[in-house]
Amino acid sequence: METGLRSTQTRETRRRIILFPLPFQGHINPMLQLANILHTQGFKITIIHTEYNAPTHSNYPHFTFNSISDRFHEIEHQLPTIPAPDPGHFLNYLNRSCVDPFRDCLTGLLAESNKGSIACLITDAGFYFTQAVADTLKLPRMVLRTGSLSCTTAYGVLPIFSKSKNSCFNLTTEDLDYEATVPEYPLLKVKDVMKMTINPKSYGDFLTNMLKQMKSSSGIIWNTFKELEQPALKTICRDFPCPSFTIGPLNKYFSSSSSSLIEQDKTILTWLDTQAPKSVIYVSFGSAAQITKSEFQEVAHGLVNIGLPFLWVVRPRVVRGSEWLESLPERFQKEVGDRGHIVKWCPQQDVLAHPATGCFWTHNGWNSTLESICEGVPMVCSPSFTDQPINARYVSDVWKIGVLLEDGFERKGIQMAFRRVMMDKEGEEMRERISCLKKKVNLSLKKGGSSHQSLKSLIDYISLL
Ligand code: UDX
Repeated sequence: METGLRSTQTRETRRRIILFPLPFQGHINPMLQLANILHTQGFKITIIHTEYNAPTHSNYPHFTFNSISDRFHEIEHQLPTIPAPDPGHFLNYLNRSCVDPFRDCLTGLLAESNKGSIACLITDAGFYFTQAVADTLKLPRMVLRTGSLSCTTAYGVLPIFSKSKNSCFNLTTEDLDYEATVPEYPLLKVKDVMKMTINPKSYGDFLTNMLKQMKSSSGIIWNTFKELEQPALKTICRDFPCPSFTIGPLNKYFSSSSSSLIEQDKTILTWLDTQAPKSVIYVSFGSAAQITKSEFQEVAHGLVNIGLPFLWVVRPRVVRGSEWLESLPERFQKEVGDRGHIVKWCPQQDVLAHPATGCFWTHNGWNSTLESICEGVPMVCSPSFTDQPINARYVSDVWKIGVLLEDGFERKGIQMAFRRVMMDKEGEEMRERISCLKKKVNLSLKKGGSSHQSLKSLIDYISLL
């Protein structure tokens, strides 16, 4: 996409920016999109990345890459076996295991470069340890926060993570009222917060460190646009001393296909070409969430019962204890015929942009949520963990552009949700609201729009660092 911004740097004066993404698909995509944007603005780009989930260098011949050891293989085997998600455990581990290799790498890069030729470091906000390293080396550190503004404000006040004594979460699990609203963040229900992690201690420690080091950074880059999250932006500007830049959605500048860690099945687009406009349900639960066998079977029954065409991304090992489709009900293929297609991974942005796509059944990772908004596709929400339950509440209760499956994967609830989105008047209204947001996205990226202005401010700001 044309940014409308022109670089003021000449070939001789081009400064370098060093970027360091968290090694997960939902974090790598926006960081490499940001790197591409900064490159078009005249900066040279160096990516430091972990060995785990390394990006494909050949897709970025214009960047320099430095790989560091992460010792992730020592705990990687725990990923598919844990009974429920403990994201804090893995994130805190990476924040310990990467310290020395990252410091050595950055020290080497600074030693090789001329004084002042490196403008700054931009790391994922989740790599909180990098602030201390950058401070020691006297290099300004900015962060890219890949999640939403609203979710970050929620994290700041949720008592389960801030260890408040009077919190309703101090009750035993049996005594908790799962349907009650959370007093500190009334949009959320207790059950939403309980979903975020099985280990509030490790996730709470991660969030506390992340928020603290975001506040100490030289600035925060957000993958969102002002018109979508104005109230949260106000809160962040009040509570965080450093400048915030809302320059998203980043996927509108560069597609995430070149940073995909799994090969995308593009043949599916030909099948979509044969389907009626807005008739297909696109189903994907992202790159990290896992579901149980019985949840998987409820999804399958739901798709059979709804009777509409569908494209279902079943990522290998998304079903706990299964390699791929082993637990699919026996009669599934027979009952569905050519009405439904299952693939391992697809070009999601192209699928959402296809005229045949009518609804997105999503886990509400922030990239998926934004990509759906950008294409004006209403959602059915099945959040799994971390920020996803918060994003889903915003989709269903604030922006009203989707329906949340309140009772999880349960075939009756699934059928009702799709009727509401695909057949009822309520669905038409959701479609109108999300089309309106789509227009706002496009306006914000145009010359003079909020994201365009913010990107311009960011470039000016970095140039002065
Ligand atoms: C993770 C966390 O789960 C999420 O809550 C957080 O906001 C970001 O990191 P993930 O599961 O990777 O997210 O989901 P999401 O943020 O939606 O990112 C998935 C990316 O993979 C999207 O950019 C999407 O376009 C891409 N994708 C997905 C594909 O390219 N093909 C697919 O088949 C499915």
